[in-house]
Amino acid sequence: MTIPRTDAAQVIVTANGPYIVTGHVSLALLTIIIDAHGGSEEWARGEALPTKAKYALCRCGHSAHKPFCDGTHAKIDFDGTETASRAPYLEQAQVFDGPVLALLDAEKLCAFARFCDPNGRVWNQAAETDDPQVRAMFLRQVGNCPAGRLVAWDKAAGAPVEPTLPISIGLVEDPAEGCSGPLALQGNIAVIAADGFAYELRNRVTLCRCGESSNKPFCDGTHAAIKFKADYPATEQHMR
Ligand code: FES
Repeated sequence: MTIPRTDAAQVIVTANGPYIVTGHVSLALLTIIIDAHGGSEEWARGEALPTKAKYALCRCGHSAHKPFCDGTHAKIDFDGTETASRAPYLEQAQVFDGPVLALLDAEKLCAFARFCDPNGRVWNQAAETDDPQVRAMFLRQVGNCPAGRLVAWDKAAGAPVEPTLPISIGLVEDPAEGCSGPLALQGNIAVIAADGFAYELRNRVTLCRCGESSNKPFCDGTHAAIKFKADYPATEQHMR
């Protein structure tokens, strides 16, 4: 395929191949930190890896130089067929209503980061969002969902409440599960399908990099079941 020349931050999904990242997008480890009860509490962002303006990230899960592509996808006949819905998020999401904020939930996008679980679970918190303390917890936990499966909705404003995130790609690490996770795209990075379709622009998106998601190009949490492990650090010399 022809890769468009652009300086915009975007990720192009190539047919049965890697993700091509353009636009000087910062790339760093993004690790789930847990609380005293083992619940996902916050993110720790690592130092940015050295990268060029454009680089190729492994999508099949089998590169020897993860997170970068080394061409292994061709040797293993990787099937990267994109199967995810192309409907806008609001059409995919279920609504869990609350007095001040509602919770929107598109379950198929779950990346199994588990920020939704602590403090009584966000689905229950939504019903108590007239309590400022619960509301703050709810917004923090929902905003930490890397996949954008969960979105807080301000009923008075009629708009989503989104955290401010730097334009970056996080290489998710999940020590509590003993595995590596997806690519966490933050800050409205465009995702372009192999056939040129532009997925809806979103502040939070997780792309599969273990190769096993049933909802490609998005992560569906399978990396945890297969205990996907990435090797670090690699450098841009492994760029194709
Ligand atoms: S990285 Fe999550 S399913 Fe592949």
